[in-house]
Amino acid sequence: MSLRVLVCCGSGGVGKTTASAALAMQAALTGQRVAVLTIDPAKRLADSLGIGPLSNTPQRVPLDQLGIETSGHLDALMLDMKATWDGVVRRFGGSPEAQQRILNNRYYGLASTRLAGSHEYMAMQRLYELYESGDYDLILLDTPPTRHAMEFLSAPQRLNGLFDEGVMHWLSLPRSKRGFAALERGSEVVVSVLKRLIGAGTMEEIAEFFDAMQGMWGGFQERSSAVEALLASNETRFVLVTTPAPAARKEAQEFADLLAETKRPFGGFVVNRVVPAPTDKARVSSADLPERPNSVPQDTWEAASLTLLGAAQRQQVLSDGEAQAMAELREQAQGSVPLWPVPELEADVHDLRSLAVLAGHLAPAIEALKQA
Ligand SMILES: Nc1ncnc2c1ncn2[C@@H]1O[C@H](COP(=O)(O)OP(=O)(O)OP(=O)(O)O)[C@@H](O)[C@H]1O
Ligand SMILES: [Mg+2]
Repeated sequence: MSLRVLVCCGSGGVGKTTASAALAMQAALTGQRVAVLTIDPAKRLADSLGIGPLSNTPQRVPLDQLGIETSGHLDALMLDMKATWDGVVRRFGGSPEAQQRILNNRYYGLASTRLAGSHEYMAMQRLYELYESGDYDLILLDTPPTRHAMEFLSAPQRLNGLFDEGVMHWLSLPRSKRGFAALERGSEVVVSVLKRLIGAGTMEEIAEFFDAMQGMWGGFQERSSAVEALLASNETRFVLVTTPAPAARKEAQEFADLLAETKRPFGGFVVNRVVPAPTDKARVSSADLPERPNSVPQDTWEAASLTLLGAAQRQQVLSDGEAQAMAELREQAQGSVPLWPVPELEADVHDLRSLAVLAGHLAPAIEALKQA
């Protein structure tokens, strides 16, 4: 079976969205039909895809502007939680009247954006829709910033837990008995979610919401099993994005362990924002400095030389430190887990071309993952 899905995970701000877009671009430049589903991309990154505001429907990225011939193409989307939830309701919500009852419920809007795990869940739903459409050879899934890397993987269970036995029992009670105390039998997650919702309304209204949702839960769960199966299959690889910083590395390693535990296929680490080793030219010592031209005063010359030497040394120290960090990551990861370094650019990703620079650095990653 060939690779169809790549999921980019990692802790906050390490470059998940950037790496997803760059990997997607690289795959498209090697001839594949690719979609990248981004989550809240930084404005400049979204702009750099050259397609104006991203939306829930795929938009073609103008790769021709790069002047590289390819038979592949790249579509970009941004996850729209509300639109994806609405799609799920339309699909599993039963009769048109039943669907409307859910869509019109005052709590639906609130629940569809605030339920714990909802963001992750909807990202997976949208991924599955793209997968099922058959329009793409490869789909890149960016993931939301999570406090802990594991939150992404446990999201579906948390959301499924919403209709646990406690809640089912509560729903089976006569309406007059659906008090808060009866709900406390539910799991902690459910109770905390409901408390949040209830803060904004009455018990009666909440009960109505759950009544309306109950009908579609079966379909919803079936669907999440299908997504789970896809994410555990040989068609998927998880790519862990990290920086050389110790905290990010630690979290990436924890995530790798969790992937192994839950038997999800791990592709490799993208190590982003690596400081390149100084070029030989920058590896200067005072002996390498040219003669001071007569037109430059001695003190100005000395100050400039010190600045230059200092910068070269700092870059060397940083780069050595990061080489060490990569070695540690490799050692912790055991076995032959690939590491794909991506250099720190001088500016953030601000146009198609700067994204293409990162895409170029990820060519070995796409090459290796396609063969996995
Ligand atoms: N290699 C790089 N060189 C320079 N800038 C980079 C690099 N990688 C990412 N950036 C910049 O860093 C910022 C954060 O990157 P990005 O949005 O991809 O991180 P993220 O992990 O998706 O963040 P979040 O957890 O908030 O979703 C962006 O402005 C992006 O352009
Ligand atoms: Mg992001």
